[in-house]
This record gives sequence, structure tokens and C-alpha cells, in this order.
Amino acid sequence: MAMLLHSLTLALLLYTLYKLRKAHLLLFGLRDQARQDSVTQFRQLEALQGLYVELKLKASLPATRDWAASPDFLLQVARHARMARPLCVVECSSGTSTLVLARCMQLNGAGKVLSLEHDPHYAELTRQQLRHHGLQDWARVLDAPLVPHQLSGEPWPWYDIGALPETGIDMLVIDGPPQFTRALARYPAGPLLFPRLAVDAAIFLDDAARSDETAIVQRWQREFAALKLSSRVCEKGCAVLVNAA
Ligand SMILES: C[S@@+](CC[C@H](N)C(=O)[O-])C[C@H]1O[C@@H](n2cnc3c(N)ncnc32)[C@H](O)[C@@H]1O
Repeated sequence: MAMLLHSLTLALLLYTLYKLRKAHLLLFGLRDQARQDSVTQFRQLEALQGLYVELKLKASLPATRDWAASPDFLLQVARHARMARPLCVVECSSGTSTLVLARCMQLNGAGKVLSLEHDPHYAELTRQQLRHHGLQDWARVLDAPLVPHQLSGEPWPWYDIGALPETGIDMLVIDGPPQFTRALARYPAGPLLFPRLAVDAAIFLDDAARSDETAIVQRWQREFAALKLSSRVCEKGCAVLVNAA
């Protein structure tokens, strides 16, 4: 009897120790996660402040979380647009990025942003924001519904690009269409727009840390040998490809 009691107490003790260790590991995990989250949030605030300072913005930007490009990505895009002074900028999906790019064109005193937007509601919202910021002369939001494109024998729903120039795109910012439209949703930017790029044009791909985007970049590199790839440290990933053709 004493032996049984002894064994039961030991089992209970071991179980309690096991549970305690699990709780201990969980707490440390949560602490590390909380630290990492606050570092990430702080970096975004630093990047957002950088945007307001470097672009001397007179009105607030719309949200830069969730659906929008993050401040660190927008800052990379803005710095390139200010330094390289592209005259023709095309972007896939409108929103906060349109305002940032249009403001760069205004500060440069030259250039135009052509923003492809598949959703008429958000196209109109971005146009309103451009007017609110006094940037309507520097960017045009193009109503570009997702239409079927036949690429490598496969159908891809992608923007109607009828209103884009055939050549001379100096900068391309890819942040759409949304991922749910199909697997590798942003791939068609390659076959449909890369042949229209100027020499030394830069392509910025948002969300480059996702597995879909990683696969897209690999495929582009296989299909467009002249592209030189680099990356920027951004929370969602940022791939930069330069057309060295
Ligand atoms: C990944 S988001 C990126 C939008 C844009 N490049 C930016 O940085 O804000 C893609 C889509 O979000 C949608 N969108 C634009 N403005 C929005 C808003 N205020 N709220 C929710 N969705 C929006 C648009 O349909 C856009 O094509």
C-alpha cells in the first residue's frame, strides 16, 4: 500500500514538473514574441516617420497596415523614385503607394504614375485621396479589371493593360492583384510588363517573403535572364529586380 502511494505521489510530481516546464517554455515564447512584435512595430513607425519627413507630406497618409503596403516597403520605393527620378512609373494595385509615388513625382518636378486598379470602388477612393493631397496631376488610377490572359498555355486573371504604354516603363511596383485570385497571382507582371521596361528600370515586388512570391521571382529569373535581383529588409519582404538588358 505504501509502495502504491509512493508511486502515485512520484507520478503526480513528475506530471506537475512536466506541466510547469510547458508553462515555462510557453511564457518564454510569449515574451520573445512580444519583444519581436514591438521591434517590428517600432521599425514601421520609424519608416513611417521617415516617409513624412523625406516627402514633406502636408496631409496624413491612409492606413499602412493590413491591405496596404507597409511603411518600410513604401520608404524603399520612395527613396528609389526620388533618386532614380523615373518618368514613367507603373504600379499594380492602387492605394497608399499611389500617394507616395505621386508625391515623389511632384517633388522631382517630373514623371507620372499609372496605377492599375481592378476594383472600381478603391480606384475612386485612391483618386479622392490624390485630390485631397493635391497630387491628382502626378498619378492616374486606371480602371483595370482582371481579364483572362493566356500565358504558357494557362489562363491567368490579370489586369487589363490596354491603357499602358508599349515601352519606356522606368519603374514598376507590384503589390497586386490579391493573392486569392489564383496561385502565383502576380506572375503575369513578368510576361506582360517586363518587355515594356526601359533599360535599367527597377521592379519592386511587395510581400516577397511569401512562398508564392518566392516562386514567382524564381520563375521570372529563369524567363528573364537580364534581371539582376537584390532584396531589401522589409517586414513582408521586398525583392528588387533591375532590368540590365
Ligand atoms: C495589397 S493592397 C495594396 C494597395 C496599394 N498598393 C497600397 O500600398 O496601398 C491591394 C488592393 O487593396 C485594395 N485597396 C485599396 N485601398 C484600400 C482600402 N482603403 N481598404 C481596403 N482595400 C483597399 C485595392 O483593391 C488594391 O488593389
